[in-house]
Amino acid sequence: MNTLLRIDSSLRLKDSYSRRMGDYFVKQWKLKHPDGAILKRDTARSMIPHLTQQTVDAFFNEDLYSEDLPLSDKMIEELSQSSEILIMCPMYNYGIPSSLKAYFDLIIRTKKTFTYDHGITGLLQNKKAHIISVMGGVHSVPGGKNPLETHLTHILNHLGIKDINYFPLEGTASPEQLSDKTKATEVLIFKHLH
Ligand SMILES: Cc1cc2nc3c(=O)[nH]c(=O)nc-3n(C[C@H](O)[C@H](O)[C@H](O)COP(=O)(O)O)c2cc1C
Repeated sequence: MNTLLRIDSSLRLKDSYSRRMGDYFVKQWKLKHPDGAILKRDTARSMIPHLTQQTVDAFFNEDLYSEDLPLSDKMIEELSQSSEILIMCPMYNYGIPSSLKAYFDLIIRTKKTFTYDHGITGLLQNKKAHIISVMGGVHSVPGGKNPLETHLTHILNHLGIKDINYFPLEGTASPEQLSDKTKATEVLIFKHLH
């Protein structure tokens, strides 16, 4: 069965463009996969702790414990169960939301999601990812990725995920042609899924 893990990270719970694009993606995905399952993780709604020395030590040494390990285990289990991962990522201060970074810091974990032996091997093989990146300004160069897509691609590759689709929405701060821009992102999503 296809399982989609939907990860939201906009601090706006209402009027968020990334959440709206995520809703559109999920609606189209459900039409394509009527029997598919959806898992949800929302880094803005439920607090994800920052990495601590104790947690990193516990990642590397199975005899050590950190109170954040159960959450790390649970989030890795969600990823492992999923065949596709949909990430909604707004730009905050030129980067990904700190809550989304905290999420990745807890799931990028040696022997669980990658191994390091003469180089990095990601352990989340045979999965697809979809990135909906949303920002107030325009940050991509023509024909290239925007900074959020570049950063998330490094992370996903590290985990072993190479099949990545990009659905950017840039320029939400300018009202001019905003409905055309959101439509264009929806068309990209629709064409990918149908
Ligand atoms: C704290 C904060 C920082 C932001 N920093 C940037 C930025 O560096 N560059 C940019 O283009 N837009 C920036 N924005 C604008 C957001 O990326 C934009 O409003 C986007 O639509 C947010 O996603 P959302 O609509 O899903 O909430 C920032 C917004 C906030 C709230």
